[in-house]
Amino acid sequence: DADVLFIGEGPGKDEDEQGRPFVGKAGQLLSRIFEAAGLPRERVFITNVVKCRPPENRLPAVEEMIACFPFLEAQIALLAPKIIVCLGGTPTKWLLKTSEGITKLRGRWFTWKGIDLMPMFHPSYLLRNQSRKKGSPKDLTWDDIREVKQRWDLLQEKKGQVV
Ligand code: URA
Ligand code: URA
Repeated sequence: DADVLFIGEGPGKDEDEQGRPFVGKAGQLLSRIFEAAGLPRERVFITNVVKCRPPENRLPAVEEMIACFPFLEAQIALLAPKIIVCLGGTPTKWLLKTSEGITKLRGRWFTWKGIDLMPMFHPSYLLRNQSRKKGSPKDLTWDDIREVKQRWDLLQEKKGQVV
């Protein structure tokens, strides 16, 4: 029962070992971001563009993203999310078919196959940029997740009216 799907890049070492997405350092930060925003973890789903760990954490190759896409598409079809959040440049560029950088695209709503989509910075990027000053990646991400939470709240209200 998840209305929001977060899509990362690919499994890192911890994810590869445990077979679950975002369980390492970046995942722990992502969990704290959900908590701070008031998004219940059991109401979001998290996955990755590629399903196997790229060696040495290099960027996934296009052929790898193509090979994994049927799995991602199936996940999206089964889940039918109302909101997709792309974490970092890899899922954003892949789904939106753009070469524009994440700094330009984050915090804006796009539509992907009729689904609201917002790019956000990747939590690993936030781990490398710890400043909380106004306009810093962390500060901007706080704005972005609150925007996502607002849209999620609207969805819950609408569901409440239907029931
Ligand atoms: N980074 C990602 O993009 N995905 C994970 O699952 C973990 C780290
Ligand atoms: N829950 C998630 O959020 N992602 C999975 O891949 C499996 C369970």
